[in-house]
Amino acid sequence: MFRDDFNILKDDLIYFDSGATTLKPKVLSASTIEYYDKYSANAHRGDYKLSYYVDKKIDETRDLIKELINAKSKKEIIFTNNATDSLNKIIFGYYKNILKKDDEVILTKSEHASNLLPWFELKDEIGIKIKYIDLTDDYKVTLDNLKKCVTSNTKVVSLAHVTNVIGDVRPIKEISDYVHKYNIDLVVDGAQSVPHLKVDVQELDIDFLAFSAHKMYGPTGIGILYGKEKLLNNIKPIIFGGGMNASFTSDGVRIYSDIPTLLEAGTPNIAGIFGFNGVLKYLDKIGIDTIHNYESELKDYAIKRLKEIDKIIIYNETSEGAVIAINYENVFAQDLAVYLDKYNICVRAGNHCAKILKEELGIKNTVRISFGMYNTKEEIDKLIDVLKNPNLMNEII
Ligand code: ALA
Repeated sequence: MFRDDFNILKDDLIYFDSGATTLKPKVLSASTIEYYDKYSANAHRGDYKLSYYVDKKIDETRDLIKELINAKSKKEIIFTNNATDSLNKIIFGYYKNILKKDDEVILTKSEHASNLLPWFELKDEIGIKIKYIDLTDDYKVTLDNLKKCVTSNTKVVSLAHVTNVIGDVRPIKEISDYVHKYNIDLVVDGAQSVPHLKVDVQELDIDFLAFSAHKMYGPTGIGILYGKEKLLNNIKPIIFGGGMNASFTSDGVRIYSDIPTLLEAGTPNIAGIFGFNGVLKYLDKIGIDTIHNYESELKDYAIKRLKEIDKIIIYNETSEGAVIAINYENVFAQDLAVYLDKYNICVRAGNHCAKILKEELGIKNTVRISFGMYNTKEEIDKLIDVLKNPNLMNEII
């Protein structure tokens, strides 16, 4: 869909790595250039028209994001650098201050590094306990398995909404209904869900949500931290400086700003916010549901075609996300990716930063095919032809 909107697709390129980052539509460069060519001023600081316009654009973009995820207030939308930055701000700015030794945080072994490493650090710093939900045979999370982990010490469940290798869509609504009965918080890594399906933070009753613009056709260097206002009112900044303070004196008395700017110290990525603004309006016209349905169709088609090849092992046939993890019998994952690249087919190979998933999957590396709205069934057919190449083993060696 909408392939003409992506200049890069004019070349003979088959891009199946949207899980890492999506390709960027023309509207992104146009709206980014608008900032550099027409405005260029800093935010929060000027008393002149150009700077006022920059502030207005940032505010409008915050509103677009509020609408996208149906937050209650735009104060709940914080601009960060990426989903990793958002998760670090949540974990070190909020949970570090409220969790105590022996409090339990529940995770899974299929999380991305960004939803594991900050918690490991917190474990070392304050002595929290980390528990993992048992996954099903097809690597999914069920409410029943979550319930087995919960004790009176459980304070937080922190999960990807959609995982980046298995692509399973977690039952977030069921989980939030359950955990909130016990005053347990739910932190959601939305990096792989917000670009692909409708995420309504009020309906799902999510406490904190983190995601990145670059995985949803937007710029790199922009992340979003959503938090319920009552939680964000108790978060402490972990970055201090201009833009987040109202006043300070030489003896160190200082008054900080309220959210959202409290958590946005320093000059923001203004060009990125302008770019994201254009992309959000573009996505709104297309509709996330349209993207979701189209990608589901692509995924089903790709699974059906991959199953024609005996040597292909598929690890996540039953998951609903726009991701397929495979291997080719007796071929190292990276070698297969390099082979596909010879045919201008881009896939990611390796552990995909989900470095403890191997304890569940039994293998360390996979080749990941991940879809975006611009992919087509013809591209999948090309992939299958290249994988069916009788000379494949020779070309790899
Ligand atoms: N999290 C990104 C991926 O899955 C980088 O590729």
